[in-house]
Amino acid sequence: MSPFLLTRTLPEDATEAALRADVLQGLTATRKTLPPKWFYDAHGSELFERITELPEYYPTRAEREILVDRSGEIAAATGARTLIELGSGSSEKTRHLLDALAGLHTYVPVDVSESALTLAGQALVAERAGLNVHALIADFTAALTLPGTPGPRLVAFLGGTIGNLLPGERAAFLASVRALLTPGDALLLGTDLVKDEEVLVAAYDDAAGVTAAFNKNVLSVVNRELGADFRADAFEHVALWDAGHEWIEMRLRSRAAQTVKVPALDLAVDFAAGEELRTEVSAKFRKEGVRAELAAAGLDLAHWWTDAAGRFALSLSVAR
Ligand code: SAH
Ligand code: TRP
Repeated sequence: MSPFLLTRTLPEDATEAALRADVLQGLTATRKTLPPKWFYDAHGSELFERITELPEYYPTRAEREILVDRSGEIAAATGARTLIELGSGSSEKTRHLLDALAGLHTYVPVDVSESALTLAGQALVAERAGLNVHALIADFTAALTLPGTPGPRLVAFLGGTIGNLLPGERAAFLASVRALLTPGDALLLGTDLVKDEEVLVAAYDDAAGVTAAFNKNVLSVVNRELGADFRADAFEHVALWDAGHEWIEMRLRSRAAQTVKVPALDLAVDFAAGEELRTEVSAKFRKEGVRAELAAAGLDLAHWWTDAAGRFALSLSVAR
């Protein structure tokens, strides 16, 4: 079996401190919010995998179709020896890339979910003789220190996860990705595209209620980690299309007036009946917007591929 290394770049108490700061800030703001990275404990990662299999959730299937068709071209264009994947989750779709990248030395999956990294990494090294897997438990919105493996480097950021960052965060994020690269290295970016509102909303509000359970999982994380007494059934899952921002917004709406206690923060949070807590945005993109955001970060768009139905795009851009 080839080597599997797992590095925790943040000590566990730093993660705890970050959660406290985010919850304190988000729940005491005039418009309440919680940042999306806290969805992904072991249960949240499992629920997300179930979302990817729902009939309404097309992005995973659309992106897989592109990877099946284009991985050969991606391998030829990049000649990558190190593949770094941000927010790698189960690494399921990445297998198509790993199959195509003939000269690959090391795969570096990066995720906040330790359970997802361990499951995916152990399966990969068991199946693939000669592949080094060096997983990093890290927050991709903070500065990353990568292992010293050979170039060329290819950074992959799939699943449309870039849409979960707000526009200002996106610019900072792309600049930090560019800083990991040497001129000629590449970024493979998955972006979900603007389309009919009904299709978009259904993808984030499925009939079986899996997305609702995923959205509410953030409340269980705060209950477990900070001793809070959120009741999942006291909130309703809301997904709506914001046409001005061109993003889907996920919210939790308080079904009645209530007070939630967060003992670890010595905090009592009042919710009015109908008050909403924003848990996530999922921005949808257009080609010229993606090109401009990449260019602003020093990345030149080289390839733009979509699935046959034109729902999702994968772009390959090169560091200037
Ligand atoms: N790439 C996979 C998973 C997408 S879901 C796919 O395309 O199916 C988003 C993934 O990003 C989850 O695995 C989640 O744990 C991870 N994630 C979310 N915010 C993160 C952050 N700030 N830093 C690192 N990983 C993060
Ligand atoms: N990156 C995924 C997306 O924006 C994450 C996601 C899918 C998600 N469904 C969700 C996040 C529901 C919160 C709630 O498509």
